[in-house]
Amino acid sequence: MKILFLTHSFNSLAQRLFVELTERGHQVSIEFDVNDRVSEEAVELFRPDLILAPFLKRAIPESIWKRHVCIVLHPGIPGDRGPSALDWAILGGETEWGVIALQAAAEMDAGDVWATARFPMRAARKSSLYRNEVTEAAVTALLTAVERFASGAFRPEPLDYGKPEVRGRLQPLMTQQDRAVDWSADTTAAVVRKIRSADGFPGVLDMLFDEPYFLFNAFEERTLWGGAPGQIIATRHGAILRATVDGAVWITHLKKKPVGSEPTFKLPAATVLGEKLAGVPESALPALPAVHPHPGPLPPAGEGEKTWRDIWYEEKNGVGYLHFDFYNGAMGTEDCARLRAALLEARQRPTRVLVLRGGADFWSNGIHLNLIEVAASPADESWRNINAMDDLTEAILTTDEKITIAALQGNAGAGGVFLALAADRVFARQGIVLNPHYKSMGNLYGSEYWTYLLPKRVGDDQTRAITQNRLPIGTPAAKRLGLIDDCFGHDIESFRRGVEGIAEALAASPDLPRLLADKAQRRRSDEAEKPLARYREEELARMKLNFYGFDPSYHVARHNFVYKVCHSRTPLHLALHRRPKWKRPAAPRKQEIKEVAS
Ligand code: COA
Repeated sequence: MKILFLTHSFNSLAQRLFVELTERGHQVSIEFDVNDRVSEEAVELFRPDLILAPFLKRAIPESIWKRHVCIVLHPGIPGDRGPSALDWAILGGETEWGVIALQAAAEMDAGDVWATARFPMRAARKSSLYRNEVTEAAVTALLTAVERFASGAFRPEPLDYGKPEVRGRLQPLMTQQDRAVDWSADTTAAVVRKIRSADGFPGVLDMLFDEPYFLFNAFEERTLWGGAPGQIIATRHGAILRATVDGAVWITHLKKKPVGSEPTFKLPAATVLGEKLAGVPESALPALPAVHPHPGPLPPAGEGEKTWRDIWYEEKNGVGYLHFDFYNGAMGTEDCARLRAALLEARQRPTRVLVLRGGADFWSNGIHLNLIEVAASPADESWRNINAMDDLTEAILTTDEKITIAALQGNAGAGGVFLALAADRVFARQGIVLNPHYKSMGNLYGSEYWTYLLPKRVGDDQTRAITQNRLPIGTPAAKRLGLIDDCFGHDIESFRRGVEGIAEALAASPDLPRLLADKAQRRRSDEAEKPLARYREEELARMKLNFYGFDPSYHVARHNFVYKVCHSRTPLHLALHRRPKWKRPAAPRKQEIKEVAS
């Protein structure tokens, strides 16, 4: 079928659905919801069989939904309506939630129901639920809806509040008052829940040093306490620790409330507060935290921890596991340096296999564009950050004494994908989305040894196609292309178990010395053919032009990304219908990434 996505942006959910539908042979074209006329034009140009709206902030114009079937995704249970569905579900302590695929109609979220899917709620950030449970349920509901539509025999069901299973209700937009923290009364758990309900947008508005800030990314602390509720009592790796009535809570990110029309963006809390934190003690943790030998299976990442940390290490049955869970997968200069230090320490451990686990939501999205944007010289900070990423990538590439495994539990983008390719084996959780390209960031050339790592895995033709097409790649296609070695596990837990099984079998294998010898031999011959230093030098020469050259495209693109400047048009690599006919791929295009879009 020809399917048109009408969407506010090509966000992770829209990318995942794009991947799933193209994998099933549908031809998907994308139009950003800029205004009614542009959407109407897209429909005229593409003449879709079906219109899907994975992520919309406005209603679909009547001129479109009256003439075409438009299926909209809503992150709620049947009957639920309104713009703050997940926020209310988290704050209200719902134990089960869902996704509805409904037909666009005159009233928002009130159209006939094509399909629904449910999931158990997890104590997590709203954005984490969205990227995991909501996304999986949305795939289930949408694929069912598409099949039902294709069958021609299914009639979607009108929403009927008289039915006992229709439990949801129309809920208003959640206001800051609804989730305001009362530091004199709210327990640590209540503070964490309120902040989670607003993460990653809009954050919880609160006062610090008599100024308004939005708070993001909160974690319970159970080893440090003291101070008056609300007071900042410690800092750690850019986060602040605030006392509560019954303990303390880490808050890693803040966004200053804009004054007038001057926009602001999210940054590590200590970067935002700067000198205001003078005198607050830094509660640093060592680069490689204490080793936790677990007798049973490893607990889920971070669970059972009594404090917050973004890098930690575990060991079991001859395998080391290095976790790094950076907010939004963004890795600043210091993050890269700390992770590299932890990696170098982990290399000294008497293990034979080292698993690099990233975080639960993201493996990595490369250099930290927000920290670069706020730096006195964004060009200099870009340079420092990319060099720190390169140092880290090189440390993985030159881990001679162990087999390294990159275990991607969450999505990865740009340099973050190439960081993973530096490992000997690359495994991904089924359903994550990879964006192994830099071009969308103002024609950024990229580094992280990608010119060595990508062709080695996929060959020169596919390297060109992947980097130029700038499309998200799903795990089945990534495996077919050779970008990753395998994908398995529908959820994080089963993926972890799968990775542990492979890693432990490798560590115990009598073949391991031979595997390590082969690895050393391959590295030696690659090095003799072209030294790693030369790849880096060539890539960085191009990056220098991006950072310091006459063409400001990268700086403009980064600025727009960080400030979330709305798109004024859909890029041609996504809007097939806007490409000249001869540049459109033959329909349908499965994810083989053959053709190169200009
Ligand atoms: N630096 C800082 N923040 C980043 C980031 C980065 N490299 N990559 C993603 N983020 C942030 C986004 O701003 C967003 O922030 P929010 O919490 O305020 O919403 C959040 O992470 C999620 O990103 P989003 O774009 O909404 O996620 P997505 O899953 O829809 O898209 C990507 C994923 C990777 C395609 C997209 O985030 C992207 O293009 N990132 C930039 C990658 C890049 O160019 N890195 C630099 C070169 S190495």
